[in-house]
Amino acid sequence: MTKGFLTCAAAAMLLSSAPCVAQYVPSEKNLISREEFREDRFGIFLHWGIYSMLATGEWTMTNNNLNYREYAKLAGGFCPEGFSAEEWVSAIKASGAEYICITTRHHDGFSMFDSDATDYDIVDATPFGRDIIRELADECHRQGIALHFYYSLIDWGREDAPRGRTGLGTGRPLDTVDQDAYYDFMKAQIAELLVQYAPVRAIWFDGHWDQDINPDFDWRYDELYPLIHRISPGCLIGNNHHLSPFEGEDIQIFERDLPGENKAGLSGQEVSDALPLETCQTMNGMWGYKITDQNYKSVRTLVQYLVEAAGRDANLLLNIGPQPDGRLPELSVDRLRGIGEWMAKYGHTVKGTRGGDVPPHDWGVTTKKGNTHYVHIMNIQDNSLFIPFTSGKIRKATCLNDGTKVAFSQDKDGVLLKLGKVPSEIDFIVELTL
Ligand code: GLC
Repeated sequence: MTKGFLTCAAAAMLLSSAPCVAQYVPSEKNLISREEFREDRFGIFLHWGIYSMLATGEWTMTNNNLNYREYAKLAGGFCPEGFSAEEWVSAIKASGAEYICITTRHHDGFSMFDSDATDYDIVDATPFGRDIIRELADECHRQGIALHFYYSLIDWGREDAPRGRTGLGTGRPLDTVDQDAYYDFMKAQIAELLVQYAPVRAIWFDGHWDQDINPDFDWRYDELYPLIHRISPGCLIGNNHHLSPFEGEDIQIFERDLPGENKAGLSGQEVSDALPLETCQTMNGMWGYKITDQNYKSVRTLVQYLVEAAGRDANLLLNIGPQPDGRLPELSVDRLRGIGEWMAKYGHTVKGTRGGDVPPHDWGVTTKKGNTHYVHIMNIQDNSLFIPFTSGKIRKATCLNDGTKVAFSQDKDGVLLKLGKVPSEIDFIVELTL
């Protein structure tokens, strides 16, 4: 299908010929989006594609050196009849999440939306024939949940895509690389995503690291970023490059680690004190659906991770890998429900808050909203806790779990909270009113 392609491609080319913005000044709308994003604190990531049918995660094409022409035939069998945007968005919303980020095109190169820039997409290449991004976007807009799009910079299936360190065994000839053509394709698709499914609050890039073997490789962000901000000034740009933010980016992303930590080995970059922060994490161990991985983290672990992120002034983007039949895995729905129960009672102690004045400790974290500070105690073996809180005189300390008063004493070095017991709650929250 090529209807409208010229318009999009022409628009993309026109826009991209703008001079490179050396110093990016975010628009008023963009600053508002950043604030809204920061207030949300919790979003759900969705990794869904034709790879879900192989049930071995989203990297299966390169990990198993699947031939690109054979892999493409998977599309002919993709018929996820169980997909219901209404069910997905409702389950996600009930968890307390405020936004969804879905893979529109992952590294395997298959487009999950109706694209005029290729026929290798969900509408043109599958018997299903439905534009799931259209359905999800409409449903998100209807239910009032923000929409973000994951978009891969790399492509293991296109012949014109630049080659980095992955996707080298998929059988593509080497002499077909055509960077200009590939960038025109990406720009046309990004323009489509922003226009067709507006409003889109963020574009989430991934794959930059594929060229870390070629440090001089130019990802042409000076073309991609202004294109996005011109079409949709309020749209946030994030890039999972595992480095400090580049000029033109609106949020800083971390993968599988809390800002400031590096347990997974993908972080270690400086934490921005200006941009909103987000860290993404899996519910089990994989992003895309993996049939053998039923090892889902508990509700307790997931809630505590969300609170740990909020205490570091960051959002949590928690992943689900939907099944090939179009349904969300039962265990993920169970976890959404559990998180939702917690959020219904205590969501206000993370949403709309900022990381607290007391830095994270082994016992937990703090968050704050105006004159109210929340002490989140998640790991303690004692019935009292001293915190180096020096941000003002405390009038009242209340345990939010049971509404009782918490006895305390305060001096110039901090506050001693007398908890009355050794807490074992998911999160024992003491609200401090100044
Ligand atoms: C990594 C993986 C990718 C996944 C992403 C999510 O970059 O390559 O498969 O989508 O992390 O954070």
